[in-house]
Amino acid sequence: MSDDLQIIRGTKEQQYQALIPQIEALIEDEPDRVANLANIAAALKEQFNWLWIGFYLVKENELVLGPFQGPVACTRIKKGRGVCGTAWQQMKTLIVPDVQLFPGHISCNSSSKSEIVIPLIQNREVVGVLDADSISLADFDAMDQRFLEQICSLIRW
Ligand code: SME
Repeated sequence: MSDDLQIIRGTKEQQYQALIPQIEALIEDEPDRVANLANIAAALKEQFNWLWIGFYLVKENELVLGPFQGPVACTRIKKGRGVCGTAWQQMKTLIVPDVQLFPGHISCNSSSKSEIVIPLIQNREVVGVLDADSISLADFDAMDQRFLEQICSLIRW
């Protein structure tokens, strides 16, 4: 059996719709969380080729860098800091069309222009975030939010 991801060309909606069943298949038989987060980040990177895509996980009241694809990134983010720490504090997805206009944005890479952060919520607590960064301004919208939240809901904790 080939493990190759089938990369789809088409609208963003078509890309997500083709990707999500593949992500489900990748993670359904694997109980290890880090393995699954790593494959989700890799699958999203392969399909969308964003600058950076990955997870931060809450450990001792900080977000700590988890599985990701892209350039090296800052390792720890406090609650309320940056886009990630704000999404954690507010327990809601944040779409940032221009990171330079987000007060307190943490710049891990100077090429990042826009960002989306989805909090991972388990038993009404944030256990981590999914963060995506793009080299294009305003690259993320409500459709990304909907599908990325759906992908995050597939993760077993
Ligand atoms: N820009 C994020 C920090 C994480 S990196 O983008 C990978 C923030 O402001 O929280």
